[in-house]
Amino acid sequence: MKTSAEWFFLLLLLNIGHCFPPWEDRNALIEQENNRRVGGNIVLGERETEANRNLMRIKAAEMSEAAATGVFPPSMHFFKARSLIQQSKVFRIIRNMPKGSALHLHDFAILSVDWLVKNASYLPDCYICFTGTGGVRFIFSKPAPVGRLPPGCSEWLLLETYRKTVEDVTEFDNSLIRNLTLLTDTPEIDYPSQDVIWRRFEGAFIAAGGLICYSPVFKAYTYEGLRELYEDGIHYIELRAMLPPIYELDGTTHDRFWLVDTYKEVARQFMNSHPDFVGLKIIYTVHRHEDLSKVEEAVNTAIRLISEFPDTVAGFDLVGQEDAGHSLYQLRDALNIPSQTGFTLPYFFHAGETSWLGMDVDQNVLDALLLNTSRIGHGYALLKHPVARDLSLKMNVPLEICPVSNQVLLLVSDLRNHPAAALLADGHPLVISSDDPSIFGAQGVSYDFYEVFMGFGGMEADLKTLKQLALNSINYSSLSTEGKNKLTEVWQKNWDKFIEELAEETWGNIQ
Ligand SMILES: *[C@@H]1O[C@H](CO)[C@@H](O)[C@H](O)[C@H]1NC(C)=O
Ligand SMILES: *[C@@H]1O[C@H](CO)[C@@H](O)[C@H](O)[C@H]1NC(C)=O
Ligand SMILES: *[C@@H]1O[C@H](CO)[C@@H](O)[C@H](O)[C@H]1NC(C)=O
Ligand SMILES: *[C@@H]1O[C@H](CO)[C@@H](O)[C@H](O)[C@H]1NC(C)=O
Ligand SMILES: [Zn+2]
Repeated sequence: MKTSAEWFFLLLLLNIGHCFPPWEDRNALIEQENNRRVGGNIVLGERETEANRNLMRIKAAEMSEAAATGVFPPSMHFFKARSLIQQSKVFRIIRNMPKGSALHLHDFAILSVDWLVKNASYLPDCYICFTGTGGVRFIFSKPAPVGRLPPGCSEWLLLETYRKTVEDVTEFDNSLIRNLTLLTDTPEIDYPSQDVIWRRFEGAFIAAGGLICYSPVFKAYTYEGLRELYEDGIHYIELRAMLPPIYELDGTTHDRFWLVDTYKEVARQFMNSHPDFVGLKIIYTVHRHEDLSKVEEAVNTAIRLISEFPDTVAGFDLVGQEDAGHSLYQLRDALNIPSQTGFTLPYFFHAGETSWLGMDVDQNVLDALLLNTSRIGHGYALLKHPVARDLSLKMNVPLEICPVSNQVLLLVSDLRNHPAAALLADGHPLVISSDDPSIFGAQGVSYDFYEVFMGFGGMEADLKTLKQLALNSINYSSLSTEGKNKLTEVWQKNWDKFIEELAEETWGNIQ
């Protein structure tokens, strides 16, 4: 018997006699990898090929500069990379690129918070209170709100009066803006753990909620949010929405049916003034820390909402920090309700937004697939679950990748090492979105596309990759066939225009 080391040596000797290494296979193997990447099968037209040449020339210049200086935005924390990304020509090209749809966004985090502070909080009858932990809460009310103080808050102060007492209003407003985002120059000090940042993250949502849930602000916020996404090259949106009570000045509130109807109405108004915007759908969500009976109630509400608004409500999901919440399996009695009653309620589960392999919630990616989810939000852990990964491929269930969110919320630091970089290389179905752009100090989905294109894709990803990602966002939306055709038509028209501009040399000199 020979030991394995001896066998290895023997094989090595045998190979030397043959042509080893097999260099003649090299090009074919590289070609095989190129074909496997997302977009690898796309055949570019003539103008697209010229556009791609320009794009890749600009990209190569930025990559070699990064390699020489060691300063590469995708490897840096987004809060520090943000201003560098804004100077990137690649980023500017991506901003101009029609991207199809954004399929993973949350209701109260789509619009830059500047608008909330500089516009909404200046409306009459806005009150502020200060929490014991350095946070703020808002409410609009007339008459003055009495006895409706959030936990730990000082008394309500009329903001208009309070602003007259502060020395530096600009600095005060900036402090409010900081309350509504996670932005800081020192994220590693301010956010030492996932639990800490998730608490601040949810605090920002609650603070913004006081402003956004006021009926006139809610309508304007949604409209302006659509505008910000539209200006970023997005023509259709699916919004995860918790549909909390929306209130009027006298404290009366509206229910979820009113809210969905209002979303529908705001989208209709937006489409009137932007005829190539295709629409907005709602994915109703509930917090995953709720107990089984609350989730059952929410599933039943989702069924009633989708029955009443089949064209506006797309389905159901659970939100909140996954590690700290119930697993899908723990909630299975609630999530089984539709299949037991023969009702089709599409699911869009956040799943695998965790680094904790083998903990209860880590099986969420598998359970989401067993529950016939239409897409998986994040699926950050999928790569560690090969069987679930095969299943998602077989079921054609895409992952919604939000790289900036994953980095800010402490799943990964250097985005070149994001697990979805491997999935992109392997042609796994993916769509790109931005989760909560306003809270991360981002806008639209362009920053996330930039991180994917530069960080995940390195010098391999090109125009074909970007084109496939845009096509995926149409294909994996919950639009009807007719809706998809309309969106494809709009996208194609804008794409051709974008390609024309990129194919012209002028893009090489963009400012
Ligand atoms: C505030 O927002 C509203 C609605 O979007 C807009 O019409 C108005 O011009 C804005 N005002 C300021 C001062 O920005
Ligand atoms: C939130 O606003 C309050 C009031 O201006 C301020 O004291 C606090 O520092 C702000 N929080 C952050 C994180 O900036
Ligand atoms: C899975 O979900 C899709 C889309 O919601 C639906 O059409 C299909 O009937 C579902 N299949 C099962 C087995 O529930
Ligand atoms: C869209 O999805 C279908 C399967 O759902 C797939 O066969 C088709 O190739 C996809 N098209 C594009 C352009 O990605
Ligand atoms: Zn999300």
